[in-house]
Amino acid sequence: MIPKTNEEYKQEILRLKEKLDVTVVAHFYQRDEVYELADITGDSLELAMKTKEDDSEFVVFCGVGFMGQSVKVLTPHKRVVMPKIACCSMARMIDSIYFDDSVRFLEENGIPKEKILPITYINSNAEVKSKVGQMGGMVCTSANAKKIITNALKEGKKILFVPDRCLGQNIANQMGLKSMVIGEDKDIDPKDADIICYDGFCSVHQLFTPEDVEFYRKKYPGIKIAVHPECDPKVCDMADFVGSTSQLIKYIKSLPEDQKVAVGTEYNLVNRLREKNTYVLSSTKPECPTMNETTLEDLYNTLKAIEDGNPINEIHVDEETVKWARVALERMLEL
Ligand code: 13P
Ligand code: SF4
Repeated sequence: MIPKTNEEYKQEILRLKEKLDVTVVAHFYQRDEVYELADITGDSLELAMKTKEDDSEFVVFCGVGFMGQSVKVLTPHKRVVMPKIACCSMARMIDSIYFDDSVRFLEENGIPKEKILPITYINSNAEVKSKVGQMGGMVCTSANAKKIITNALKEGKKILFVPDRCLGQNIANQMGLKSMVIGEDKDIDPKDADIICYDGFCSVHQLFTPEDVEFYRKKYPGIKIAVHPECDPKVCDMADFVGSTSQLIKYIKSLPEDQKVAVGTEYNLVNRLREKNTYVLSSTKPECPTMNETTLEDLYNTLKAIEDGNPINEIHVDEETVKWARVALERMLEL
C-alpha cells in the first residue's frame, strides 16, 4: 500500500519499524508527528550519548546533517541514514578553510598555534571537528559548554570558539571572562581576550530581541523569561534563566502551574512543553526551517528504501576525518 494520509504514513512507519533492525532518532525540534514516532529523542548531547549505546544496524536520524554525521563519527560501523539531509544554517557558516583562517588570524595577532585551544560547538561539520581534534581541542554542546570551557582553561591557552559567537560570548559573560568576536570587535587585542569567538550565529535564535523581553514583562508582570544560549547576549543578560534545550525543559517543568513563562527557543519544542502559561518569546513563529524539513513521508520513504534493500541518504565520512573528529567528540564525552 502506498500511504496518502498522515495516519496511513504512521501505520506504515510503525510496521516498518517493527520489521527492520532500525532505531529512529529525533531531535526535540522535529515536527510533532515525526517526534512521536521516534525511539530515541533528546537534545544534541543526549542524542549523541544515547545513540552511541544503541545496537541496531540502521540509525534513522531525523534532525540536521551535523547530528547524523556525529553518530557516524562515534559509531562508524553503523549505517546512518537521514530522511532529509537538512543542514543547520549555523553549521554552514564555517568549513575547514574558514577554520584555518581563524587560526591564522590569532597567529597574526601574536598568539602562536601551540597556545591556541580550539573548541567547536557540536553544530559544525565533521571536517571542522576533525581540525579541532588535530589541534588538541574538543567539541561541546550548549548543555556542557561551561564545563568544557572551565576544563580547557586549565591548559592556560587562548580558546578559539567556533562557530557560534553568541554561545561563546554568553559562557564568557557567565564565567566573568573576556571574549571577542573575530571581525567584529576590532578594538580588542586578541591577546587580551580569554575566548576568541568565530562570527557564526543561529538564524532562529537571533529572532529574539531585548524588545521582546520588555514586551512580555510589561504585558505579564512577574513572567519568567527563559532562553537558549544561542540567543544574543543582550537577551540572555535580561533573562531569568539561560539553558540548553534539556535544561530549558527541566526548568519550565519545575515551575508552578500558574507561573507564566516566555521561552526564547524553537517553536516546536516550546509548543509541546506545557499546556498553559507558556509563550514563545516572539511575535513571529521561530521554527527552525531545516529541522522542519523532515516529514512523515520522508521518514516512510527512508524506511521503505531499507526494506527494499536500497537505503537512501546514507551518511558517509572519510576515515581520516572520522579519526580526528571522533577524538574531538570523545574528549567531550569523557568529561
Ligand atoms: P541543543 O544542544 O540544545 O540540542 O541545541 C542544538 C541546536 O541546534 C539548538 O538550536
Ligand atoms: Fe541550527 Fe539554529 Fe536550527 Fe539549531 S535552531 S539546528 S542552530 S539553525
